[in-house]
Amino acid sequence: MEFQRQTNKRLYEEHVATLQLLSRVERTVTGRAGAYPPAAGDGEWAAFARSVISAIDVEVARHFDFEERDLFPLLEDAGDGDLVALLNEEHVTIRAVAQSVADLLRQSLSAELPAQQWQTLKTLALEFSERLGSHAQKEDGALLPVLEQLLDEDADRELFGAYAAG
Ligand SMILES: [Fe+2]
Ligand SMILES: [Fe+2]
Repeated sequence: MEFQRQTNKRLYEEHVATLQLLSRVERTVTGRAGAYPPAAGDGEWAAFARSVISAIDVEVARHFDFEERDLFPLLEDAGDGDLVALLNEEHVTIRAVAQSVADLLRQSLSAELPAQQWQTLKTLALEFSERLGSHAQKEDGALLPVLEQLLDEDADRELFGAYAAG
């Protein structure tokens, strides 16, 4: 997919990075990337858990906040309120499951999880992956093309500058 606007390009790249992370999550919790549950003190597991926690706490949070604060209102004004309501609802659900995943990952770094908890983590991680993956793809197909039409060069520069500045 080719976008001209910097804001769209950035969001699209972040969706691609998210889908890559999610496929790593799926491979890991289904045991295709190594033993699951991992052995106690497994360094690869610790690196994996830390990178997913940071993606949830930092990148996904920042991306969602930007969409909600700066993009969704633009789409609402342009008459796409139904799409915005759906995407907002998905954000709420995804944030909740992401928080549960991050909590269990944090626990796995500080103590051995009981077998039951590893199973819960796997179930939640697969749900997180499924929901966030389909959300990102929906935005690629429905949100970004609309935004591409809405933004002129100045609006794009301003939005992108605000996002890059954090
Ligand atoms: Fe989103
Ligand atoms: Fe997004």
